[in-house]
Order: sequence, then structure tokens, then C-alpha cells
Amino acid sequence: MRLETRKASQTFALGPSGQVRPFAAENPIVRFAGVTRAYGSRVALDDVHLELQPGELAFLVGPSGAGKTTILKLINREIRPTQGEVTVAGIAAHLLKGSRVAELRRRVGVVFQDYKLLPRLTALENVAFALQVADLRISDEEARDRSLDALEAVGLGDRGSALPHQLSGGQQQRVAIARAVVAKPPLLIADEPTGNLDQQTAWEIMDLFSDIAAWGTAVLVATHNVEIVTRLQRRVLTLVEGRLVRDQQAGHIGRMAWLASS
Ligand SMILES: Nc1ncnc2c1ncn2[C@@H]1O[C@H](COP(=O)(O)OP(=O)(O)OP(=O)(O)O)[C@@H](O)[C@H]1O
Ligand SMILES: [Mg+2]
Repeated sequence: MRLETRKASQTFALGPSGQVRPFAAENPIVRFAGVTRAYGSRVALDDVHLELQPGELAFLVGPSGAGKTTILKLINREIRPTQGEVTVAGIAAHLLKGSRVAELRRRVGVVFQDYKLLPRLTALENVAFALQVADLRISDEEARDRSLDALEAVGLGDRGSALPHQLSGGQQQRVAIARAVVAKPPLLIADEPTGNLDQQTAWEIMDLFSDIAAWGTAVLVATHNVEIVTRLQRRVLTLVEGRLVRDQQAGHIGRMAWLASS
């Protein structure tokens, strides 16, 4: 049960174990309301309700095939729900026409397992290119300056001239993260971003996501990395067979050992 009290102009929610947290339900950055997505007769997501607040970091976990990537694709409007509503940064993604998808994508940074850097462009050019594609009015000089800032923020200020193949996997993922946040989107989504990295590097990348959330960008990370998720004690959304079976708020030690076997 959720109790609400109004304090001055801000609403607070009292969670199940009594913790109080700011509750800005009026304008979450992501809102799923009764979202079902089927691929033919296969139901990949079944009546999912969830909200992610600005600046919040949350992990999306669950066995293979549970629907994690489907949630991220719905947020990015790669696909539309069969039923229900998906709202992203105030935009009704479930209604959005293909011709207007760019408006939504400008507000959502995306990070993939395999980095997806352009192999013939340097780290700096990869970041700058994304910025200029998103906003054609940005000059080369401004794009360069802002891209350098983004590379510095991810700890790669001195590697801007390197080509992707000259960088380690972890460094390539940092470039991809710089590219995803260079336009300062309100939301970053990442699909299995540490799947190709060793555990030490995975920790560094997850720390970077924590920093990004602290800077004010909401971050949603789909991952199988149970050890990191359990130890970070951030919000964890658990999907099983397309249903959101658990929404564990930050600050709780997870009971997710069973996921390790998935
Ligand atoms: N294009 C598609 N056509 C048909 N079925 C699909 C398609 N994409 C996903 N599915 C099905 O939808 C379900 C959810 O898939 P999804 O990719 O969202 O799972 P996931 O949780 O991301 O899994 P993983 O951890 O393996 O990445 C699965 O049963 C999958 O087979
Ligand atoms: Mg997936």
C-alpha cells in the first residue's frame, strides 16, 4: 500500500518499508501504463506498469527472454505496444508517428552491448557526429568542444584521437556512453552494457552510470550482472515471462541469487 502526504508543494510517497522519497508522479521521465507487447501470438510483455523519475538509476533484470530489450525498444520507439501507453519525457511514444521519432530520440541516449562505434571515425568524431546528426545547427567547433567535454567526463579526455580498434572494450564503451550523453538527454537506456566486459571493467562502467544519474539524467540499465546489481542496492525491476514481478526500491539488499542460474 502506498500512503501519500502533501508537504509544502512537494508530494512524498511512503514506501512499503516506511522509507520516504520524493514522489513526482506528475512528470516521470518514463511511464508505462498497462503495456502489453506481442510478437505475433507470443506475448513478450504483459500488462506492465512502471515509472522512472528524473535522475533515477534503475536496473532491469530477469531471465533471458523475459522482455528487457522489449521494454527498452518501446522506450526508444523502435516498436510500439500492442496495448497500453508509453510516455517518454512527456511524449506519447505509443502514438508517435515514424516521421516524428527523432523528437523522442533526441531525449533518449542509448548504449548497447557491442558499443556500435563507427570504426573509421576517431573517438572524438564518433561523439561529435552523433551530436551534429541530432542537431544540424551545431557548428563543427561547438561539436568538438562539447564532445571533448563528454569524453573528459567519462575519463577519456586524452584519447579523443584514437580509433575504436585502438581502444579496449571498456574504453570503447566509455566512448559510446559519451556519445549517448553528449546532447545531455534527460534519459539514458543501456541494453546489457557490460555483457562483453570483465567484472572489474563492468564495475567501472556501472559507476559511470551512477555518476550520470547523479548529474540528473535518469538511467535504465538492462543487465544479467547479478553481482553488481545486488551490491549496488539501487532500484531493481524484475521481469519474468513478460511480467514485472518485483519493483525493489533503492537501499534494499536483493534476494536475487536465483537469477544467477538464468
Ligand atoms: N522480433 C521478434 N519477433 C518475435 N519474437 C520476439 C522478437 N523480439 C523478441 N521476441 C520475443 O519476445 C520475448 C522477449 O524478448 P526480449 O528480447 O525482450 O528478452 P530479453 O529479456 O531482452 O532477453 P535477453 O536477456 O536474452 O536479452 C522473447 O520470448 C523473444 O523470443
Ligand atoms: Mg535483451
